[in-house]
Parts: sequence; C-alpha cells; structure tokens
Amino acid sequence: MCGIVGAVAQRNIVSVLIEGLRRLEYRGYDSCGVAVLAGGEPKRARSVARVADLDEQVCETRLEGVTGIAHTRWATHGAPVTDNAHPIFSRNELAIVHNGIIENYETLREMLRGKGYEFISQTDTEVIAHLIHSLYHGDLFAAVREATGHLHGAYAIAVLHKSQPHTVVGARQGSPLVVGLGEGENFLASDALALAGSTDRFMFLEEGDVCELTLEKVRVFDRDGKPAERDVRQVAAYGGAVELGPYRHFMQKEIFEQPRAISDTIPQSDVFDASLFGEGAAKAFEEIDSLLVLACGTSYYSGLTAKYWLESIAKIPTQVEIASEYRYRDSVPNPKSLVVVISQSGETADTIAALKHAQSLGHTHTLAVCNVATSAMVRMTELSFLTHAGREIGVASTKAFTTQLVALFVLAATLGKLRGHISAKQEADYIRQLRHLPAALNSVLALEPQIIAWSEEFSRKENALFLGRGLHYPIALEGALKLKEISYIHAEAYPAGELKHGPLALVTEAMPVVTVAPNDALLEKLKSNIQEVRARGGQLYVFADADTKILNDEGLHVIRMPEHYGLLSPILHVVPLQLLAYHTACSRGTDVDKPRNLAKSVTVE
Ligand code: M6R
Repeated sequence: MCGIVGAVAQRNIVSVLIEGLRRLEYRGYDSCGVAVLAGGEPKRARSVARVADLDEQVCETRLEGVTGIAHTRWATHGAPVTDNAHPIFSRNELAIVHNGIIENYETLREMLRGKGYEFISQTDTEVIAHLIHSLYHGDLFAAVREATGHLHGAYAIAVLHKSQPHTVVGARQGSPLVVGLGEGENFLASDALALAGSTDRFMFLEEGDVCELTLEKVRVFDRDGKPAERDVRQVAAYGGAVELGPYRHFMQKEIFEQPRAISDTIPQSDVFDASLFGEGAAKAFEEIDSLLVLACGTSYYSGLTAKYWLESIAKIPTQVEIASEYRYRDSVPNPKSLVVVISQSGETADTIAALKHAQSLGHTHTLAVCNVATSAMVRMTELSFLTHAGREIGVASTKAFTTQLVALFVLAATLGKLRGHISAKQEADYIRQLRHLPAALNSVLALEPQIIAWSEEFSRKENALFLGRGLHYPIALEGALKLKEISYIHAEAYPAGELKHGPLALVTEAMPVVTVAPNDALLEKLKSNIQEVRARGGQLYVFADADTKILNDEGLHVIRMPEHYGLLSPILHVVPLQLLAYHTACSRGTDVDKPRNLAKSVTVE
C-alpha cells in the first residue's frame, strides 16, 4: 500500500528517495512520484508505471535537490492517473505526500473552495495540501500542527514548503511513520526498511505526533501539542534488497523457504514456557480465562486454526474475529480475556484499530503474533511472539502463515501446560513433532511436479470449491483465498459437512472440488462428503494422507501427503494448496507477486 520517503540533507537526495521507493515497492502501488525543492521552487516527477520509470524521468530531467519527499500510491480517492499521483502541490508553494484516508475531505474541500483554492486532483490528499497552505504564516511545523486538528481519519504525511528550503514536516495518525536520524541530515519514511543504507537509527512516531526535520535537529510534538521525546532505536537488521535466486517469483521462493522459516520460529527451548511470550507473560497467562483473537485475511485463518488447538490442548475458550468487524460492533468485553492480534506486517490498519478498540474496552492483557519486531502492533501490546519468516515480498502470504501457525501452536501448548492439561510426556512429544516439521515440509514440497500437472487443469476453470473439516476447514479457506488472490479464479471454501446445505447445487463436471483429507477423526465423514460430490459428476482433487485409503478413480484425483502429522497437520496440508494456487496463476500468466488491486501491507481501512 502507499509508502512515504522524505529527506533533508546537504547533498542531492533524489537517489535516496528513489531507492527508498524501490524498497517500498513490495507493498503494492499503482503510481509514484518525487518532489524536491530546486532553485527555491518545488519541482516534481510522477509516473503511473513503476519506480524504474520514475527513476528514468528524474535522470532525463536532471531533477535534483537537497530537500525532498517521495511516494508510492495505492489509489483510494481517484483513479491511478498522473494528476492523482503524489506529491500533490498547493499553489506551487507546498508539496505533500499522504498515506491513509481523510474522512471529512468533502467538508474541508468546500470550505477551501470558498477560500479560493482550486482542486486539480480527485484525491483527499489535495485537501490537506490546501488546508496546510491556508494555515501557513511562515512556520510549516505550526501550520501542520494546526491542520491536523481539522482532519478526521487516518494519515501519515510528509510536507515541504518553498519558503523553508531545509525543512520537512511529518505527522501521523493511524498510519505508520518513522524518523531516520543521520549526521547533518534526517529522513522520514513509512517503514524503516525504506531507509536501509542511509541510517540505522530510528524514532518510531506515536499516534498524533507531528515532527519537524531540519539538517541538525528533529522536533516532535505529541497529540496534545506538547514537545515530546521519542526513543532512538538502533535497527541494524534491515539488509539490502532480497534476491530472487533460482525462483521465478518471490511467492515461489517464500513457499520453499518455509522449512527454514519454521525452523527459525520454533523456540530453542525444550519446554513450553510463558517467558517465550515476553516478560510478565506468566502472570498475564494466570489471570486470563479466555482468548479473543483479532486479525485479517490469511492471519485471520491462522487464528481460526489456532482456536481448535487452544480449545483442545489448553481447554481455554477462544473467540476469533475479523478485525474490521470487531472494531465496529457492540461486543461484550471480558477484561480477563487475552487479546491476541496476528499479523505479518504488524501495521494492518484494521487490526491496529481493533486492538485499540479492545484496549479502550478495558482489555489489558494483549499479545501480538507478528513478523516485524519494530511494528506498531508489537509496540502496542503487552506481550509478543515474533515469527521469523523473514521479509515476505509476495502479496500472497505463505511463510508468514505457517510460522504464525507454529507460534500459535506454541501458545496453545504453553497455556495447556500452565493449566495442567498436558503431561511432561505430551510436552516432549509436541516439541519433537515441532522439530521434525521442517523435514516433513521438505517432503511435501517435493510434491510440486504432481501439483503442476493439476494446475494446468485448474488454469482453464473459472470456479473452484475447497472442502475441509475441523482443523482443516481454515486450511480450505486459506487455499481458496490463495487461488482467488493470485489466479483470479473464483474460489469458495466450505466445511465439508455443509455441502449438502446449499453449495452441492454448484457441483457439475466443470467444478473442481479441492479436498483436504488428513487421516483424522473426521476422515470417514469426509469420505462420505467426497462420495456426495462424485455422485453428482464433480471432479475431486484430494490431498490425502498416505494412510487414508482414498485412491485415484474416475473423477477422483489424489495426491498423497507423505505422512500424517496429527494436530500439526494443517501446517503441512496448506503447502500443496499454496503450490496449486501459485502454479495455476503462473499458467494463467497473472502478476503473481503483485496481483491486481491488492497491496502487501493494508495500512488504510
Ligand atoms: O500483515 P497482515 O498479516 O496483518 O495482513 C493481513 C492480510 O491483509 C493478509 O493476510 C492478506 O489477506 C494476504 N494478502 C493474503 O495472502
């Protein structure tokens, strides 16, 4: 989704800004731009193509400057055309880049029109540009602080004004923004990653903060308009660009990285201990009587899977909610419930808002299961467990999902142990099974050639049904999401027992029905569901554990999973579904890593 970079320096910073945008490309965008103060005037270049095209433009036009801002835009208000691309100008004196959505932009636009401001774009951002301009009386920092008082909604902004050639002002509310500190130069970005190579010292701005960057100084005012100190953190982990290596796409690379990612996420310790979740976890875990899990998309499905583990291993009631729904409904808060947010990025706007909502309702015990140590969610929660998937570039989440599952299984086992529901022998067995997972995953990945053969069939279809039962119903949901997200084939998932209550009407020869068939307590029930589909001429594609005795037959295509993995089986069964979606998308020639209309990090509501 949208990305911001800004810089104040004594050298030409255009290459720093462009490199920053390159590093943010993975988030997804549909236009980009850069503005600098050159010869006392703001000058800009914008593109509705890629950052590489923007780079060519700035080289051709020799755009140079010591103070500048840059942006990748994921369209919300107004189509992805050049006029709507950021930076947006106000009267050729002020330039702004913006992430987020301003909810009261229509009212503000009318007010500003009344003051004689002309609107060129369809963006809500232009409202902020003119608003700050209208409030500017020689002090950009003051004008931005005053303007933010009129804005409703979410934003991270970076602004420059031609009368202050060595100043960039930033503000955040609901969208992330970090300050990068240099020697005689300072930077701003929506993600520390954008500034790798320029600095490793960061200040993570808090909600409502407004900051002013000059060559030697950074000033921050908090939401109450008071000067504030923000900790400076050393973040050295941001290396160079991630390489694709022998893979065709990042998604394929990330699928094959799962044995490593899982191995890095499994705790080293031979016991499940509350301290894995941070200081104070033992006390917090003693005080809770239930869990409330909040997440979006794939992370929500990992929460749904975890519910089975938490209730069966730890015997603790668990409620899992889509974050964007929870935040707007009247729920009955239970302060003894542990609120668990699950997120790859830790910056998903809906999940952050749901967490804040839960906190405002009196939930004090909060835990983030997250892949980014410096993210907003990790900073906002009492406890955290970091997944070690490494950077995930493909918009379709894969290794983040399986590492979340590992983290959540560890949570279930830890709570189960604390509550006296698992024996020492059971604990040792779970640890052993976790440790064997990377090897088991490698055997699943070896199924790729068989899955490629199926994907050719799938690429000619327009619809697909996914079935699973129990623990594997969320895996069917995840398989359907993967397929629709990157191949654009309509796919739905059902708990297999629901088939006869409606979706069976869709089953014809043209409808592939993908079934996840582990050898668990529900196998015989699932076999009956398979027969219901076969009897109606449906084409079944079954991922069956080796010992299920489900055999290839007319209308029944089977790929054997190497081994049955008990409670941890969802972590293995999701992998062939990821590969099926991936290869189907490749056959259809879609942009696998950057599927249409989607962004990696969804930082707007
Ligand atoms: O960063 P998060 O895990 O909070 O993101 C949540 C969803 O936006 C994300 O999982 C999305 O559904 C993926 N594109 C699915 O592959």
